[in-house]
Amino acid sequence: MSDYKLGLDYAKQQDTLDELSSYRQQFHIPKDKHGNALIYLCGNSLGLQPKSTKAYINQELEDWANLGVEGHTDAKNPWLPYHEFLTESTAKLVGAKPIEVVTMNSLTANLHFMMASFYQPTKERYKIVIESDAFPSDKYAVESQLRHHGYDDKEGLILWKPREDEELLRYEDLEQILDVQGDEIALIMIGGVNYYTGQFFDLKRITKLGHKHNCIVGFDCAHGAGNVNLDLHNSGADFAVWCTYKYLNSGPGSLSGCFVHERHAYDKSLNRFTGWWSHNKETRFNMRHEFDVLPGAEGWQLSNPPILSMAAIKASLDMFNEVGMEKLLRKSKKLTGYFEFLLKELGEDVIRIITPENPDERGCQLSIQVLNADKTLHDKLTESGVISDWREPDVIRCAPVPLYNSFEDVYLMVEKMKEILN
Ligand SMILES: Cc1ncc(COP(=O)(O)O)c(C=O)c1O
Repeated sequence: MSDYKLGLDYAKQQDTLDELSSYRQQFHIPKDKHGNALIYLCGNSLGLQPKSTKAYINQELEDWANLGVEGHTDAKNPWLPYHEFLTESTAKLVGAKPIEVVTMNSLTANLHFMMASFYQPTKERYKIVIESDAFPSDKYAVESQLRHHGYDDKEGLILWKPREDEELLRYEDLEQILDVQGDEIALIMIGGVNYYTGQFFDLKRITKLGHKHNCIVGFDCAHGAGNVNLDLHNSGADFAVWCTYKYLNSGPGSLSGCFVHERHAYDKSLNRFTGWWSHNKETRFNMRHEFDVLPGAEGWQLSNPPILSMAAIKASLDMFNEVGMEKLLRKSKKLTGYFEFLLKELGEDVIRIITPENPDERGCQLSIQVLNADKTLHDKLTESGVISDWREPDVIRCAPVPLYNSFEDVYLMVEKMKEILN
């Protein structure tokens, strides 16, 4: 957008015009020791707490206090089917059908459970492709899967790398990898939005390419869920996993979301790790029946889930449901575009944004490289009241989150950066 303007008045005016501005009041904004609100631009790491979360959790604490074990069936929101209360909203949020999604476990654990089913290597086809800058936990997970199946983790891992002096990945290079080694690749596992650069990949394009070469395709959407339009069903991806503590504001270490494409929903022959929660709900408590797997993503659950964490997810999803991704993305693009506009005013000889310029190829995060800067710049920003995060070797990641960040937040952040650089 080219009609952005400089100055605090413009930022304030945009906040007045913002149709989502009232949502900021629905979050706890962290404060400094003098009680002043911090400029929190770190929702890409840990989202803020909705004020409603406490009441949702308290409801379950009260039901537990008053009902004990009977809460499984008699709580206001009975615990046995509690995860089902999250299904519709989650499906809407990630562009999936209800049968394709479930909330369970934590993120890296789900990645392993998905690979237990969808990474079925053979002597000829066992390699795994990831981004060279994949989030470390993803890299460790796929390396350990290679070793688990008896393969060398160096030989078996193919890195999709940026070209020299570039940060972003090019699809032509992935095509090239597949043209040359497609017959040896069992799995392509990519971060839907790269955690470091903020590059939002074309999930459909990658899936189509992978499937053309008979590879399974999965995505880690930790930085995508609640941030971009994932459209998982139409992407055709075999599976996806994400966390709910970043853009989904459900609290530190909260549960993970999982997507398994409908085409796998009724395939009982798929290898998988199972537990009583993957068993048919009708006969689960008979305890002695032979294992009978649930259809869809629910069939990958193992354990009865932590209700307190799910209550926090419900609080957040109810808010996402009310707002809808369409409005959220409209504001997100405008707010991040404004952030980019202000940063560019600092001069391209000082600052380089490595996140794609095209709003359709990114979410709200901008990854900023500052020339000749080191972590002290980030530390000074923190001292000045800006909460962002630093990723080695030289990137500050900032995410103006449309639900709770304002145009004024973004304006003030850049002003503070200016002061520090001067
Ligand atoms: C892209 C990505 N993958 C994996 C993880 C690890 O998540 P968890 O600790 O919930 O398994 C993170 C955490 O931030 C992440 O950003």
